[in-house]
Amino acid sequence: MTTDFKKDFPIFQNNPDLIFFDSTATSQKPKYVIDGIREYLENSYSNIHRWMYDIAQTSEIYYKQSKEKVCDVLNANSYKEVIYTFNSTYAINLLTQTLRRNKKLKKWDKVLVSIVEHHANIVPWLILKEEIGIEIDYVTVDEDFNLDMEDFKSKYDESVKVISLTHVSNVTGQVFDLEQVGKLKREDTLFVVDASQSVPHMKVDVQKINCDFLFFTWHKVFADSGIGVLWGREELLESMDCVFSGGWAISNVASDSFSSAGLPDKYEPGTPNVTGAYSLLKAFEYIDSVWWFEVLEAVEDQLTNYFLEKAKQYDYFHILGSDKPENRVSVFSFVIDSQHSHDVAEILAENHIAVRSWKHCAQPLFEKYWHAHSVRASLYLYNTKEEIDKFFEVIGKLK
Ligand SMILES: Cc1ncc(COP(=O)(O)O)c(C=O)c1O
Repeated sequence: MTTDFKKDFPIFQNNPDLIFFDSTATSQKPKYVIDGIREYLENSYSNIHRWMYDIAQTSEIYYKQSKEKVCDVLNANSYKEVIYTFNSTYAINLLTQTLRRNKKLKKWDKVLVSIVEHHANIVPWLILKEEIGIEIDYVTVDEDFNLDMEDFKSKYDESVKVISLTHVSNVTGQVFDLEQVGKLKREDTLFVVDASQSVPHMKVDVQKINCDFLFFTWHKVFADSGIGVLWGREELLESMDCVFSGGWAISNVASDSFSSAGLPDKYEPGTPNVTGAYSLLKAFEYIDSVWWFEVLEAVEDQLTNYFLEKAKQYDYFHILGSDKPENRVSVFSFVIDSQHSHDVAEILAENHIAVRSWKHCAQPLFEKYWHAHSVRASLYLYNTKEEIDKFFEVIGKLK
C-alpha cells in the first residue's frame, strides 16, 4: 500500500522542511481541494437561494450536493438534517441556545459530559447553567482513558436530560465507545456527540451511535475553514425554532411577525459559506480517491504503532493517557521530564516540526489528572515514518 500522500499537499512542496504534526488543530489542504476552490471562484461563484441565473443555480446545486454527501457519510436520513455552521464551536452554541429558546431544559436538569471534553463542549453548557440553572456533571475515564461506563451508569440518573460527549479526545486520542452509551440512552434524554476529532479519522454512523445531534468542523478534514456541521434528527430539528433568524431562514415577514422556513434553511440565517461547502465537496472527492477510511485507518495504524514503539526508547518521554495502540487515533500528548511544554514546542519548531503546547482547550482534564500542561503531536494521512524518526532525533537531544 502506498503511503505517499504528502505529494498531494502543496504546502510541503512550498515548505520542504516542514513536518506538520498539528493536524488535530487543523488539516493541510490537498491540491485537489485548493484547485477546486479556485476553479469554483473563477467559474461559478455566486450567492445561493432566490436566483434566476445560471451560476447561482450551479452554486445551489453544489451546496445541496455537499449536504447530500455529508448525509451519506454520516448515514443520516436526509440532507435536511444537515445544518451548516462556521465550525464546531458555533454548532454546539447554536444547539444549546436553540434548546434554551425552546425550553427543552429547565432548572436542575442535568447535562452529562465527560472530563476529557474540549472547552467547546463545556462552555455552551456552562452558559445554560448561568442562564437557566441547569447542572453539569462530568463522567470520568478508566485507567486506559476510555469512558468509564460504571461511572457513566452511576451518574445517568433521572435528572439527566442531555448526554453530550466527545467521540475522540483531542488530548489523548482515545476513541470512546459511544454505541454503548447509545444503547443505554433513555427516550427522555438527548444524546449529543462532538465528532470534531472522529470524522477526520474514521467512519461515523449516527444510526449506530443512536445519537440525536452531532457536530464537527470541516477544516480538520481537508476542506477550507469557516464551515462546520450540526446534524440533528429531522423531527427534533423540525420541532424547534432556531435561536437566530433572518434571510433565507424565514418564509414570511410582516411588520409585527414572521414565519420560519422549513429544514434545513431555518437554521441557516444569512448568506452561507457557499465556497466552504464547495471545498467540502472537493474534500470528499479527494477522500474517495484515496479510498478513505480503509486507507486512512491503515496509514494511521502504521504511524501510531511506529510512534508508540519509538517513544518507549526514551524514559523521560511520557505519553499522557494510554500508551497502547488500541482504541486510539494518531494524537499523542506528552511531557518530558524537567522541560516546559512551550520550550519543547519551541525547540521542535526550530527544527521545523509543528506541534502544539499547553492544555489544548481541555483544562478540566488537565486539572483532574495531571496538574500540568503538555506538548501534542498529532499525525495525519500525509505524515511518514521518516518524519517520526526526525521528531525523535530532536527528542533524543532533550534529556
Ligand atoms: C474535540 C473538539 N471539539 C471541538 C473543537 C472546536 O473546533 P472549532 O475550533 O473548529 O470550532 C475542537 C478543535 O480542536 C476539538 O478538538
